[in-house]
Amino acid sequence: MNTLKLKISPELPEMDKIARAAEFIKNGELVAFPTETVYGLGANALNPDAVKKIFQAKGRPQDNPLIVHVSSLEMAQNLVVEDINAYEIAHRLWPGPVTLIFHKRRSIPDVVTANLQTVGLRFPAHPIALRLIAASGVPIAAPSANLSGKPSPTEDWHVAEDLDGKVACIILGGKTLFGLESTIIDMTAEKPMLLRPGPVSPERLKTLLPELVISKAARAHGNYDGPPISPGMKYRHYSPDIELILVEGNPFDSFKTINEIASNSNRKVAILCSEETKELYKEKFDRVILGSRDDLYIVAANLFNALRELPNRGFKLLISETFPEKGIGFAIMNRLRKAAWKVVKD
Ligand code: TXA
Ligand code: MG
Repeated sequence: MNTLKLKISPELPEMDKIARAAEFIKNGELVAFPTETVYGLGANALNPDAVKKIFQAKGRPQDNPLIVHVSSLEMAQNLVVEDINAYEIAHRLWPGPVTLIFHKRRSIPDVVTANLQTVGLRFPAHPIALRLIAASGVPIAAPSANLSGKPSPTEDWHVAEDLDGKVACIILGGKTLFGLESTIIDMTAEKPMLLRPGPVSPERLKTLLPELVISKAARAHGNYDGPPISPGMKYRHYSPDIELILVEGNPFDSFKTINEIASNSNRKVAILCSEETKELYKEKFDRVILGSRDDLYIVAANLFNALRELPNRGFKLLISETFPEKGIGFAIMNRLRKAAWKVVKD
């Protein structure tokens, strides 16, 4: 397939290009597009044949449901059945990097939700995503625009690397803002339940949802091996192609363990660390500085790029220190623990 690549600046979304991309959606084709979290691989959510193409292009198991993206609260309300209180919460959190799970209406095909009676809805805060949905005139089902098992794409060339020739169109919109997937909250549980940590932190959510329960999967230390709460949780996500060892503990102590593991390996090794800790590691090792421990948004924005890029640069072993579990740091640690082949307690 010949993939049309449209370069569109998020600051100045050119409507003629958006309209071309929207034509593909209307015709049942796939369009990859930027959001404020990661790139999405979109299809008309109301067209089962179009949605099936998403699973094919990604190599995604059919039993892993997709998130449906909307460009207004009204569009969301037409897809789900909830009480006024739930919509009030949605209104306060949207648009933004939060996915809310609601009871679905029959208009959403079963292939989208992998036969679940619930659906994850997201109203993204990104000018290209919003204009694409609005111009298509339909809700857009979209998982992250990576091949299954690869880190989510945070740069347009990540998408091209995985999906060129497999999709009709890729919108190139530069680096995404947060670089981590949306926070997912199940609003259909007895109490709202955090299924996947993301850019909007539990601390912030609790001001709006005081009863919020943090699921075991969201907390997971090491591999979560209980029953999957969210269908996607049984799959190993965000994993780099090469061994990643996460060394738990405060890096100002655990750096010794990290230096030791690196010294004992005869593979080409990179250490994932921060501005504040980089000097703790021996100079002979490549140190990849994700950002400052005082600005975890930057660390989050750089993480997936590092996990994707370092294997391509010939590294055979990655060792990561931990980051503070406050704010977006809770999501960073969730992704690191999921990506790790091995978690070492310092
Ligand atoms: O930021 C994001 O959320 C990005 C952008 C493109 O919006 N999308 C994304 O989609 O990360 P995906 O498919 O890579 O991750 C969605 C997760 C999966 O783990 C899936 O199992 C879960 O959401 N999910 C979807 N619908 C669900 C439902 N009805 N109940 C429980 N979990 C659901
Ligand atoms: Mg994904």
